[in-house]
Amino acid sequence: MTAPALEIHLSDDQMTEALRSDARLGLTASPKWLPPKWFYDARGSELFGQITELPEYYPTRTERELLRASAAEIAKVSAAQILVELGSGSSEKTRLLLDALTAHGTLEQYVPQDVSSTALSSAVEQIKLEFPGLDVHGVVSDFTDTLHNLPGGGRRMIAFLGGTIGNLVPDERAEFLASVAEVLEPGEQLLLGGGLVIDPAVLVPAYDDAAGVTAEFNRNVLHVLNNRLDADFEPERFRHVAVWDADQEWIEMRLEATEAMTVHVRDLDLTVSFAEGEQMRTEISAKFRLEGIAKELSAAGFEVEQSWTDADERFALVLAGRR
Ligand code: AVJ
Repeated sequence: MTAPALEIHLSDDQMTEALRSDARLGLTASPKWLPPKWFYDARGSELFGQITELPEYYPTRTERELLRASAAEIAKVSAAQILVELGSGSSEKTRLLLDALTAHGTLEQYVPQDVSSTALSSAVEQIKLEFPGLDVHGVVSDFTDTLHNLPGGGRRMIAFLGGTIGNLVPDERAEFLASVAEVLEPGEQLLLGGGLVIDPAVLVPAYDDAAGVTAEFNRNVLHVLNNRLDADFEPERFRHVAVWDADQEWIEMRLEATEAMTVHVRDLDLTVSFAEGEQMRTEISAKFRLEGIAKELSAAGFEVEQSWTDADERFALVLAGRR
């Protein structure tokens, strides 16, 4: 008997319900905003996959090299039996960790979690083929939900890679890290991947590539609203904007209305007006300093055990233990 490959904690209906409430809140606010998690329907996940291969988008390949260099060490100091990965997406880079942890002989279970069921189900199928002895159990849910249903019965490591933690504002980060700490036993670990503060001349093009893939990814949130909430956005009437906020130390992605327009979100019975040039925030992607990460982790109940950065100091992998 085999367990189902995917556990759905977030049904399609619940997903639509959550989108409704986010869309109502964000589209009636001033300035307007939308949370970044809604980029990732099947098309959005596909576009993000393309972003990771762009010459300008350095985070994915930098983190992959860091994982390649550190995976054996991580496996050794962690000796994790259960690897839980939050926001796992395609799990592409995680294979390096899975390789090292299986070679080390401790790993028994891999639990990838993501909001995108399409990305997750193909990742789970692939990994089951590549790691036949491993118990792979995908969970479609929100981070918070995964944390409350964390598997037990072995030493755990929670991985949160790719810099996705940067999508949270500082208050949300503090709350998130505290809730991770709360579900772990002393000695269990968190492996965090985060982009570092670098020259905006390198940073901004990573979020505004020449081929326009990121622009298409950004506008995809409007397709998602059209499809899920029967809205009538015309995505081509929105311009992709990426700006570096030097005070907050984050990249902000926005969609700018190229002309005045009225949009109907029929599922919400909502009419939304945009002025010409009006900008709506769709994502923040915060960048970090190593001291800052250590401080945030410490405030949440963790202690940094080891960290790795690339030669250009663009990205960091931080291994922290629950105190
Ligand atoms: C998947 C959240 C890590 O913030 O760099 C890529 C998403 N946005 N290009 C990031 C993203 C624009 C990405 N994360």
